[in-house]
Amino acid sequence: MAFFASVNGEISPAEQARVSVLDNGFTFGDGVYETLRTYGARPFHLDRHLDRLRASAAKLGIEIPADDGALGAELDRLLKRAANPESYIRMIVSRGVGEISYRFDRIHGPTIVMAARALEPIPEAHYRDGIPVIVSSVRRNSPRALDPAMKSCNLINNILAVREAQAKKAAEPLMMNERGDVAEGASANLFIVSKGALVTPPLNDGILPGVTRALVLELAKKLAIEARQQSVRVPTLLGADEAFITSTLREVMPIATVDGSVIGSGRPGPVTKKLLDAFRRYALAR
Ligand code: PDD
Repeated sequence: MAFFASVNGEISPAEQARVSVLDNGFTFGDGVYETLRTYGARPFHLDRHLDRLRASAAKLGIEIPADDGALGAELDRLLKRAANPESYIRMIVSRGVGEISYRFDRIHGPTIVMAARALEPIPEAHYRDGIPVIVSSVRRNSPRALDPAMKSCNLINNILAVREAQAKKAAEPLMMNERGDVAEGASANLFIVSKGALVTPPLNDGILPGVTRALVLELAKKLAIEARQQSVRVPTLLGADEAFITSTLREVMPIATVDGSVIGSGRPGPVTKKLLDAFRRYALAR
């Protein structure tokens, strides 16, 4: 498996790539990131991921001097070097190298890292049978503390929830916001299907504006599937006809159970299947 990384434009095998121990990304978690994947060896929706990367960086006051063309060219160079049939891509921009202090004026940056490795296929059985999820006891960060709309390298909130899910043998933790509405997963957005209509929590419930979430809403419109952005309470989730999560890596992934309780028929439903199929066709045709 070829795993390569670019650090400020220098490409090497990932295990040899180096960032300073004084990098604020390491000392403070002071950075932002994006996860992308390729379809047909080309980065999928690099445009939307770079828009979100810039929006996250802007919230932290991190300037990204390279334009989209330069970032895209560096990513192409990395993907050529890694030469995987399909790649998992991580882009990280940290504030840069500092002095382990809040003296932002003394930081040299940013540090721009891109890493690409072979994409690990997700077993088709997960799509065929659906996955078990839990509603985590860990609440999603409050937007007033650490806005989930910012894809920051500070992933402790997500890690705590994922550890709880793994201990319960679940594939994803769903996290409630401070109001008790189910907001999103640790690395995916949430959709339910109720009486034929699609429902997904609105952005102001404190979630990441997922690229896949937006594409699913666009595809639903094309397919004339009614869609609403509306808060989801736990009983609504448990009573849904269908439920699924969306993310770059998992596409449209059916949920079979929530905390052991079966959703709908317990099998991926017709709306979920239709959207998964439409999403894959769209991704492969790009
Ligand atoms: N996760 N919500 C959270 C908290 C996420 O971390 C992600 C993405 C999503 C889905 O966003 P998108 O459709 O743009 O991938 C929602 C990526 C895959 C990750 O953390 O690696």
